[in-house]
Amino acid sequence: MQHVTLKDKTFVPYITSDKILESVKQMAKKINADLADDMPLFLVVLNGSFMFAADLLKEVTIPCEISFIKLASYHGTSSTGTVTEMIGLTEEIKGRTVVVVEDIVDTGITLEKLSILLTKKEVKQIKVATFLLKPEAYKKTIAVDYVGMEIPNDFVVGYGLDYDGLGRNMKEIYVLEQK
Ligand code: XMP
Ligand code: MG
Repeated sequence: MQHVTLKDKTFVPYITSDKILESVKQMAKKINADLADDMPLFLVVLNGSFMFAADLLKEVTIPCEISFIKLASYHGTSSTGTVTEMIGLTEEIKGRTVVVVEDIVDTGITLEKLSILLTKKEVKQIKVATFLLKPEAYKKTIAVDYVGMEIPNDFVVGYGLDYDGLGRNMKEIYVLEQK
């Protein structure tokens, strides 16, 4: 693994593909044990989570469904501020166990918005599976049930994560070079 340059920034190797897959397998094992009787719906939050979701769900062997959503933000009226909308969900989710699949949880703002939207749809329970968590940045109280790896408050790319649209296709994770 060598450093990579994406636009104006340089990134250095951080988490190898082997390490990533090892921790993804561990997570799948826990999910298989915990949710065997729940027929969960995995809700993959695009774009960043596509690679993690593919690896994770190949190792999930319990009965389940998989769907993909995107979150879109737009400015509502001045009284409502920014409104977040969930796009792409066609399944009936009322009364179901929903596992949100995220690439990374940073401040938790995104996760909180999604959690509010899902709660409105009267799901039975929400579980959260994220590959990366930045504990120093996380400011919310929503339980993050499954975490692949905890990382410091640094900017990372690869394994689905992008810098300005680039780097998502890399199978290793890279961190912004400290100058
Ligand atoms: P919050 O703060 O809402 O952030 O938990 C979640 C979203 O922010 C993006 N994000 C990152 N993207 N490298 C990235 O490529 C990072 O280190 C990083 N930290 C946060 C990401 O889109 C995530 O869904
Ligand atoms: Mg994301």
